[in-house]
Amino acid sequence: MNLILFGPPGAGKGTQSQFIVDRFNIPQISTGDILRAAVKAQTDLGLKAKAIMDAGSLLPDEVVLGVIRDRIVLQDCAAGFILDGFPRTIQQADGLADILSGLQVKIDHVISLEVPSDMIIQRLSGRRTCVACGKGYHNMYAPPKVEGVCDWCKGELVQRTDDHEESIKNRLLTYENQTAPLKAYYEQLGLLRSVQGVGSVEEIRQRIVGVVQGLS
Ligand code: AP5
Ligand code: ZN
Repeated sequence: MNLILFGPPGAGKGTQSQFIVDRFNIPQISTGDILRAAVKAQTDLGLKAKAIMDAGSLLPDEVVLGVIRDRIVLQDCAAGFILDGFPRTIQQADGLADILSGLQVKIDHVISLEVPSDMIIQRLSGRRTCVACGKGYHNMYAPPKVEGVCDWCKGELVQRTDDHEESIKNRLLTYENQTAPLKAYYEQLGLLRSVQGVGSVEEIRQRIVGVVQGLS
């Protein structure tokens, strides 16, 4: 099964991807995670990406398409994959279609998480991530047992460098201008499945299962 998990920043794509990985046994391909790992490792890609990501803008399409092209051919994608945070422009969606047609693979569903902007700001400003194991938390909705400390590995919880007010504003603007038009693109292809992204993580999980299993 090949899925795209689509939605604005902070819609819950990363949170829900984790569950899809476990439930359907397919890997998550998150361009944001791949780029953050490159920034941390200070690779050429990471050095180019850091300022763009911190500002809340998008990397050039050809750079991100190169990342996806290299990742999607790996063995663990043979039974399917979930794309998180990609594609984000019409050009990326066209590029993805070319890559997939070369591999004779098709997208089954584009799951679009619908969340209003005021809730997005609340979700992003409260998000914290463990520096050691990457587990995600939220100050209000998913707090750790001890403030600032990961429940699993006792690592330090930090705020992402693009989760401050200016960057959040720009990410939302970038989403509206460059990414939201993809909804019509995938609607036309008959692949768009809108899922209400407000509610508990578990409720949204159930909605996604319903869509993926063809029950809604
Ligand atoms: P990326 O990492 O993809 O960031 P994003 O799209 O802004 O999405 P987020 O990771 O912020 O949010 P999410 O939807 O995963 O939400 P989460 O589950 O964490 O991209 C970062 C940057 O990299 C981009 O700005 C760009 O510069 C670059 N980039 C990446 N891909 C690119 C591409 N294709 N092209 C060009 N550039 C690219 O949830 C958020 C918070 O809410 C968490 O704290 C969580 O605990 C909480 N939460 C989740 N669900 C619920 C719920 N149901 N109720 C209450 N709280 C909840
Ligand atoms: Zn941890």
